[in-house]
Amino acid sequence: MVVSEEQVATLVGLSVLRQGGNAIDASVAMGFALAVTYPRAGNLGGGGFMLVHLAKTGETLAIDYREKAPLRATRDMFINQAGEVDMEKAQKSIYSSGVPGTVAGLSLALQKYGTISLEKALAPAIRLAEEGFEVSAELRKSLLNAKERMEKSTESMEVFFKNKGEPPKEGEILRQRNLARSLKEISKNGPEAFYGGAIAKKIAVYMKKEGGLITERDLTSYKAVIRKPVSGNYRGYEVYSMPPPSSGGVHLIQMLNILENYPLRQYGHNSTRYVHILSETMKLAYADRSKHLGDPDFSTVPTQQLISKRYAKRLANRINFEKTTPSKYIGPGDPLAESGTDTTHFTVVDRYGNIVSNTYTLNFPYGSGLSVPGTGILLNNEMDDFSAKPGTPNAYGLMGGEKNSIAPGKRMLSSMTPVIVLKDKQFFLATGSPGGSRIITSVLQVILNVIDHKMNIRDATSASRIHHQWFPDILYMEKEAGKNLSGQLRKKGHKVKITTPIGSTQSIVMINKLLYGATDSRRPGGMAQGH
Ligand code: DON
Repeated sequence: MVVSEEQVATLVGLSVLRQGGNAIDASVAMGFALAVTYPRAGNLGGGGFMLVHLAKTGETLAIDYREKAPLRATRDMFINQAGEVDMEKAQKSIYSSGVPGTVAGLSLALQKYGTISLEKALAPAIRLAEEGFEVSAELRKSLLNAKERMEKSTESMEVFFKNKGEPPKEGEILRQRNLARSLKEISKNGPEAFYGGAIAKKIAVYMKKEGGLITERDLTSYKAVIRKPVSGNYRGYEVYSMPPPSSGGVHLIQMLNILENYPLRQYGHNSTRYVHILSETMKLAYADRSKHLGDPDFSTVPTQQLISKRYAKRLANRINFEKTTPSKYIGPGDPLAESGTDTTHFTVVDRYGNIVSNTYTLNFPYGSGLSVPGTGILLNNEMDDFSAKPGTPNAYGLMGGEKNSIAPGKRMLSSMTPVIVLKDKQFFLATGSPGGSRIITSVLQVILNVIDHKMNIRDATSASRIHHQWFPDILYMEKEAGKNLSGQLRKKGHKVKITTPIGSTQSIVMINKLLYGATDSRRPGGMAQGH
């Protein structure tokens, strides 16, 4: 079974499985294919996280291929003369990009846990880039939205707007010849093509010409890392997710631990009491995120304390049932004493019982909008996920502190939350989502919907979602939940705002040994296929 946000990529994954490949083979092929067919988030010039469960050994592991700050990056590089964060520079410039990790991450996954060659895994992506594929209405729309950022890049314009500045029409064939050439380089020479060979040279030349920071040394020294996932137990289910430098897994488990103290099923899905408890829980977790989380290779993250049941109990005791606690009265806890806009997730389970839950991104749709000349490769704008200045929110309204400050070679904090849930060591659920700061809460609600509210995966996916991230102190609600409840929640003191769709989860569950997949209709174009 394969679930992704883009149909062609789902079919690529399915065909790998049908030929006897395992979930890792299918995922790597999809990871490369999405770079072609879903260029707003699929990528070679970005990074992400892959959670893998191996049936044979029962082991679950996390591949961290998050981007890193270039070696010449400096702590205050986004602060202008007035002492303010220069958003344009952080989000839309040559300086916005971290050193890409995707090619290293996907290659590592395949080499360690796959069964097919890199050449084979890349073949569908190469064909799609060379021969082209039909442009969907959604792709055209997303290109129009990102045009302003891409206009600064000749390469991006030549690929996506060559019709006198117009993106391809729905149904037109989009070919990406330079990208095909880059993919072929990788197929022929391995990931070294990207990190030391022809592509690395092109990246370094472009950076030098534009005054950017990424050098060949940044690329040769980039390594994807295999980490131990964070894990917890929620009502008898084993939950595995991404450890730092993602904040996703830590806070997902922390929130589940807090919520385990309440009879959520009894409250009823999206009842006033339920939304209140969820929102208060979310605030506590996001407050902790602002202080305690960062790249574990640079500072100590108190992961085990943050995900301990004892700490969760203490936090649960702080929740007032009757009234909301304004965010300004909530600070990060002390666990030691105690537009978003674009990323994509896919989930694969194979016949052997291997599981992959992968989220990767360029950050914004089409990243910084800039492509490396001659390569067809769009660059990420992940540097904005660092805390450029304490107390100043990033594009997702997230604030951070010292542990997430910019430093050479450091990974910026992420919210991406690929998850795998087991029950009695057997596969039960895997999911993940795009949505910036809203990723963690989207994934949380899918898990609660399935485990507490006993929904099937389709209903669990489509059910109306809510989100709170401590600051801004706003309870975001999707239309339907908000329509019914906003009045009662306002009485409890919540500042409610009806918001655009929250997340786009791509999930698989297993019930009575059968797999059920669900893509999320919040974003069109996704597909769940297989069995
Ligand atoms: O790593 C992160 O948390 C962000 N760069 C993710 C961005 C994102 O999800 C945008 N998507 N919708």
